[in-house]
Amino acid sequence: MTQDEMKKMVAEAALEYVEVGTIIGVGTGSTANHFIDSLATIKHKIDGTVASSNASAERLEAHGIPVLDLNSVSELSVYIDGADEANHYLHLIKGGGGALTREKIVAACSRKFVCIADDSKLVDVLGKFPLPIEVIPMARSMVARELVRRGGQPVYREGFTTDNGNVILDVHNLEIMEPVKLEQELNDIPGIVTVGLFAKRPADVLLLGGKDGVRTLT
Ligand code: 5RP
Repeated sequence: MTQDEMKKMVAEAALEYVEVGTIIGVGTGSTANHFIDSLATIKHKIDGTVASSNASAERLEAHGIPVLDLNSVSELSVYIDGADEANHYLHLIKGGGGALTREKIVAACSRKFVCIADDSKLVDVLGKFPLPIEVIPMARSMVARELVRRGGQPVYREGFTTDNGNVILDVHNLEIMEPVKLEQELNDIPGIVTVGLFAKRPADVLLLGGKDGVRTLT
């Protein structure tokens, strides 16, 4: 089974978490894209979606699935999205696709966060995948210097602008032993919009697709 087939399998398994007659949050990336395609088969059962990126909104709309403005919605029943890395506490690194800020907002509005990934994403210690950080453009160098001071190696994601008009620094060389603490510390650096660490609000359920099927971690 290929990695993409595992992503598709786990995305289909996530349909079980979609509650009839509710509005759901939908993430970004190749696994989330498989979820969107699966969601199309039961689209009549939900009242709508909130998307975590323009790309996902376009894909949902192409399937005829309603996409709502988050400001018109008070709560989402569930948020379904992929991850770049997950640990056994369901802390995540996200933002490989650059949508981390809207992903964190939509996750925060959701009663339940179901993360879907192929099982290569499960790690003991987060940080092998470079940590994406969304930064206000004028603060890029200042934030980069701060990150170097803390032992990271920030790399500017050239030619990429987020849906919010900002830039991304991908921070290499971090061994994240205390994800909640690091998320809080980095959040306090002026100029940082969002840290791609989802530890303060981790996933509630992690569905992992592997060659033996789908495993559920809670
Ligand atoms: C996008 C994300 C994605 O969830 C993450 O990059 C995983 O992507 P994929 O499902 O393509 O492996 O955080 O910002």
